[in-house]
Amino acid sequence: MKKIEIGTSGMMASQIAMGTWSMGGDIQWGAQDEAISLKAIRTAVEEGINLIDTAPAYGFGYSERLVGKAIREIPRDQILIQTKCGFWWKDDEGALLIERDGRVCRRNLSRRAIMDGVKDSIQNLDVDYIDILVTHHQAREPFLTPVSETYGALEELKKEGTIRAIGISNCNMAEIEDYLSCGTIDVIQEHFNMLEPETANEFLPVCEKNQITFQGFSVLKQGLLTGKYGMDYQLSAENVRNRSHWFQLENRKKILEMLDGWKPFCEKYDCNLAHLVVAWSAKKSPRMILLGGGRKEQHVRDYLRGGAIALEEQDYEKMNQDIVQALGVPV
Ligand SMILES: NC(=O)c1ccc[n+]([C@@H]2O[C@H](COP(=O)([O-])OP(=O)(O)OC[C@H]3O[C@@H](n4cnc5c(N)ncnc54)[C@H](OP(=O)(O)O)[C@@H]3O)[C@@H](O)[C@H]2O)c1
Repeated sequence: MKKIEIGTSGMMASQIAMGTWSMGGDIQWGAQDEAISLKAIRTAVEEGINLIDTAPAYGFGYSERLVGKAIREIPRDQILIQTKCGFWWKDDEGALLIERDGRVCRRNLSRRAIMDGVKDSIQNLDVDYIDILVTHHQAREPFLTPVSETYGALEELKKEGTIRAIGISNCNMAEIEDYLSCGTIDVIQEHFNMLEPETANEFLPVCEKNQITFQGFSVLKQGLLTGKYGMDYQLSAENVRNRSHWFQLENRKKILEMLDGWKPFCEKYDCNLAHLVVAWSAKKSPRMILLGGGRKEQHVRDYLRGGAIALEEQDYEKMNQDIVQALGVPV
């Protein structure tokens, strides 16, 4: 598989990476079978994926422990571990983000929270160092840690060898500029899919200019773009998909009709809709990493298969036209 450099770090990551959010097993995704998760992660590595993304937020450390277990037998230098910081539930310092599974979770990118969180991540993952540390959610009122303090802590961790590269996520352009005024950024991680391409459209030029690697997540919009959630699919109140207006029935209808119109492409490329959508996503930028999400071996294999399909230009353009026409999204 094609490899893409992580910023200017010298680390080379597979174009398709493995995301482990849905394996976290918290209330928004529902319970997860550990053996199935381990098999999915190990399949990913066997098939050439060398970047694994996790976070303390995914099941309050569970996903990190799972990743640690899955990679125990794999030589450490063959794998890139990426985790996150700034999601804080140990005390009431920070700006309220969400309440989940009986915990009050806050945005906290203070030096104290970063140092403490990284110590936990190292322990959960059972590793000596983390390859890439990403600030998960940026600071907000009433707890506005200056970016200089956050960056200072990350730089300190880098100098002592605890982390090898710095990334940021869920940020705006002003925040990117603030980080860049402090020093090097290797990764920007944002949602990217055919329903939500705006952030990639906005940030890809700044990534190009500053040699930052863009990582796109929710490429299949939590399964919506595979066509598997029909009009009769019922969302429970706590389901993660409830957060997005794209799952509302009137939008789901438009999306399903658009996907239905792509059946001839599936026949042409001998693939399913998940493959086709991943193939479309991989064409966006040669320096973008697609963070595949899933909790089953088959999800991993679908991302890999889609990433290997080279869509012809005319088909890519037709899909773009359909997206604009059906959904009004500015691809
Ligand atoms: N920085 C951030 O704030 C942030 C935010 C979101 C994600 N991320 C990272 O990016 C990764 C990917 O994001 P995501 O999990 O939203 O990606 P996604 O691929 O859009 O969603 C993953 C879910 O979609 C369904 N799915 C995936 N592939 C499928 C297939 N081939 N066929 C049918 N269903 C399929 C599965 O749902 P079921 O398991 O329910 O069947 C799977 O758990 C995450 O795991 C995480 O590492 C980061």
